[in-house]
Amino acid sequence: MTVVRVTAPGRVNLIGDHTDYTGGLVLPMVLERRTVMEGHRTDDGMVRVSSADQAGTAVFPFDVDEPDSVEPHWARYVAGMVRELRLLGMSTTGFEASITTDLPIGAGLSSSAALEIATGRFLRAVVGPDTIDDVTMALAAQRAEHHASGVPCGIMDQLCIAVGQHGTATLIDCHDLAFRHVALPDSIDVDVRFVAHRTLVGSEYSDRVADCREIERRIGPLRLATTVDANSLNDARLRRRARHVVSENQRVRDAVAAIEVADMFEFGRLMTESHRSLASDYQTSTPNMDHAVERLLAEPDVLGARMTGGGFGGCVVAIRRRD
Ligand code: GLA
Repeated sequence: MTVVRVTAPGRVNLIGDHTDYTGGLVLPMVLERRTVMEGHRTDDGMVRVSSADQAGTAVFPFDVDEPDSVEPHWARYVAGMVRELRLLGMSTTGFEASITTDLPIGAGLSSSAALEIATGRFLRAVVGPDTIDDVTMALAAQRAEHHASGVPCGIMDQLCIAVGQHGTATLIDCHDLAFRHVALPDSIDVDVRFVAHRTLVGSEYSDRVADCREIERRIGPLRLATTVDANSLNDARLRRRARHVVSENQRVRDAVAAIEVADMFEFGRLMTESHRSLASDYQTSTPNMDHAVERLLAEPDVLGARMTGGGFGGCVVAIRRRD
């Protein structure tokens, strides 16, 4: 019996939130904290997974068709990934595995995407041959997330986790899924602070996705839209949403340019501006997150701070001057 052990990290987004599901730009980075999956292949076509951090053991067939009915709830992400890889032609097997993580669960650091990618890496190692590339794996994980949770998420979390390199941010164009690694200068530290537990299931996340679909019906692809296009919308809510997405895509471009000339003051300024846009125009922040950002900004070595990820709770991220 060969025991296989794989890992997948969490992620924090430095800038570019609520842009991925309209094919925009994002700049996340992988965290040190990670999910570990360890186990072995079996012959009976059944999956048995347990978690050291969450209750219960899940038992379901490898040819599972309804991952969203698997119990306990956390195992739906595993089941969703098993189903997606099977649909991609991975041959049926059984396996037994246990999962541990030092990622906080439901804190906006993509613990679910980490579980999906860990499952994908585990299956790739257990079943082999290694035919599924990282981008295909990330797309499968995104579909698994849609099925398991019903949240119509974009590709940022899964792709960042699948391709990210420690110590660098990953610039992703969510339209064509091109990515490149952007090294952060040694002069800063990235500081992630937990604010509140949350889940995007049943949150206003899907309302924001629906708003963007409506905007695109009216003015065409948001990734190509200008401020003039955004301001041409008659509906005040849609106008604010569009203004955020258009300005956020530009902030990601500007942030990468600032990082590449080591202008961390400018990068920090853009992060804070991104927070204000998410809070006022996109309305995905909360009073507690706003408060956490203001508290961080009051510290002398903090160059910029913002909410990170889907919002409605979760974490805030800041950059600090190291000296
Ligand atoms: C969540 C989603 C991502 C992305 C962010 C907001 O993390 O899973 O796809 O939309 O929210 O940027």
